Amino acid sequence: MRKKMVIGNWKMNGTVSTNSRLLQDIKDDPAVSASQIEVAVCVPFLHVPKTRAILDGSALRWGVQDVSAYREGAFTGEISADMAAEFGVLYALVGHSERRTYHGEALKTVGEKALRTIEAGIVPVVCVGETLREREDGAARETVETQLMAVLDSLTVQQAACIVVAYEPVWAIGTGRSAGASQAQEMHAFIRETLSKQATDLANTPILYGGSVKPATASELFAQADIDGALIGAAALDASQFLDIIRSAAFQALS
Ligand code: 13P
Repeated sequence: MRKKMVIGNWKMNGTVSTNSRLLQDIKDDPAVSASQIEVAVCVPFLHVPKTRAILDGSALRWGVQDVSAYREGAFTGEISADMAAEFGVLYALVGHSERRTYHGEALKTVGEKALRTIEAGIVPVVCVGETLREREDGAARETVETQLMAVLDSLTVQQAACIVVAYEPVWAIGTGRSAGASQAQEMHAFIRETLSKQATDLANTPILYGGSVKPATASELFAQADIDGALIGAAALDASQFLDIIRSAAFQALS
């Protein structure tokens, strides 16, 4: 059985002091250190050093929300995957829909970011997902497949075996409107089939669901055969909600 994984995406929220308190409230909870699950938080870049100092030695891992598509050089304002790796970063989100939409990230750029991340020894959490318009037009699978293939085409099979995929339908992000468990499962099964077609080694890639996951919806999502965990936005900013979701994942992993 694949491990369950819960990753918080803090986006651009909090201050050093509120985020430090949030980490303190989460890190020592027994659910976080349960052996059958992996828990991480993807924090704003400037909060990485403080996050590392607080979490060092705990089971809670830390990550970033983006990396540069370039290794180094004259790219003002960018932060490379190698720089993140120096701070013990284990995960990096790549291709989040907010970056694709607000920062014009192209398919090829997302593939390059995934490659830079793997080269730096960081696990890329590759975000894919369709807009409401694409779903209504019957193009949801095609969109997700195109986004996924752009990443797989940038990687060797060995590199691709390191990725985590997060299916985040754009219409479910921050809207309070989560995909239904069976609707999400359907897309997760399709993603797994697409990965398996590339190479059998990719059949066990962790596939997380993201988009308005709350404690009330988590357990039904986690019960689905191809949903290996969740990428959490707003609920990850509240220690008690985040911990409830982690407990659901731990419970599901045991049953
Ligand atoms: P919400 O959980 O706030 O909908 O955000 C999901 C998300 O974008 C995680 O990356």
